[in-house]
Amino acid sequence: MTFRREETVWIPESDLEGMSVDTLAVRAGQIRTGQLEHSDAIFPTSSFVYGSAAQAAARFGGEEPGNIYSRFTNPTVQAFEGRIAAMEGGERAVATASGMSAILSTCMALLQSGDHVICSRGVFGTTNVLFQKYMARFGVETTFVSLTDMDEWQASVRPETRMLFIETPSNPLCEVADMAALGRLAHDNDALFVVDNCFCTPVLQRPLEQGADIVIHSATKYLDGQGRCVGGVVVGSEKMMEEIYGFLRSAGPTMSPFNAWVFQKGLETLPIRMRAHCDNALELALWLEQQPAVERVFYAGLQSHPQHELAKKQQTGFGGVLSFQLKGAREEAWSFIDGTRMISITANLGDVKTTITHPATTTHGRLSPEDKARAGITENLIRISVGIEAVEDLKTDLERGFQALRNASTDNV
Ligand SMILES: Cc1ncc(COP(=O)(O)O)c(C=O)c1O
Repeated sequence: MTFRREETVWIPESDLEGMSVDTLAVRAGQIRTGQLEHSDAIFPTSSFVYGSAAQAAARFGGEEPGNIYSRFTNPTVQAFEGRIAAMEGGERAVATASGMSAILSTCMALLQSGDHVICSRGVFGTTNVLFQKYMARFGVETTFVSLTDMDEWQASVRPETRMLFIETPSNPLCEVADMAALGRLAHDNDALFVVDNCFCTPVLQRPLEQGADIVIHSATKYLDGQGRCVGGVVVGSEKMMEEIYGFLRSAGPTMSPFNAWVFQKGLETLPIRMRAHCDNALELALWLEQQPAVERVFYAGLQSHPQHELAKKQQTGFGGVLSFQLKGAREEAWSFIDGTRMISITANLGDVKTTITHPATTTHGRLSPEDKARAGITENLIRISVGIEAVEDLKTDLERGFQALRNASTDNV
């Protein structure tokens, strides 16, 4: 292929057909300008120009494809969308300003007043607030159910149920949903099955192949992986993505070209990062299970996890997030967290740097005490998003947390 200076070329997707997610992460969705750059170009421009008034009219009228305005057409954003769509095995992706705006845009585009949603109880706290407080104001009612109790899902279906929404594995307790069963339930009832695939990413799990209609990501997490940008993305069929794209064009929760470029580069290392996260998390989970101050560890890679077999079937790895309950209450959890020195105290997850948080007072702090109890968010619970540092060094830092607990109990004598 030859390039003219002014030409921008999309590398043909057909060249990558049947290739693995590792290859798609590096190659899919790439565009190359006439400068023949090897790394992805970035197009930080709000608008685009036309060769003539007639061309402008044709672009606005939809008769000619091409860029118009970066609220809804930007090549860098489209490059990121092409790559993540290929990795998830979806027809098309729509990138958004944040993970929450990906969820909001999906709801606004595909639901209407009078519709009913069933959502798993253990979803990210803000997702819960979005459904419970804001979608309810527009006449969309949500029933919250246990992620793993199929009878409760079945019993909650109504004639007006239009969407089943889950995260699997869940945050922070790492519960695993049976996606095939939930997909069947949704489709038997003319509802959409939406999966927030934030914890696994397409490297470990591809929900569209297991019954989901739509996959959502907070790109802020593993897709970037280095804690730099906030963003989101929705993946699914051309028809549904066109609806979501239409909402984005009108309402504007768009991803910026710079953020899209960061995420595009982040995807290139996602497969190797995810494997490193999984290895470290499994080793830490096994180690934490042996600590006398620990009451229980939640990680789907452990034999003790109730959905261990299901996770093995659905996922190619168990992910980088684990949580555990200490013997004690909030005081013990906070002492442990404050005792660590290297691990970052932050609610973000999916970063190469290990992070630690107390869900009951941070990510899930806005839930009512009843909702926290129902979601299993206890005061002695700690969540760790395991990074890619040397696992022995992570143990050394967590050991400082255990030492802080021992010091506190001696002080109290
Ligand atoms: C599973 C999950 N989904 C969605 C979100 C929201 O994403 P964002 O913070 O990018 O809006 C988060 C944020 O932590 C999350 O953990």
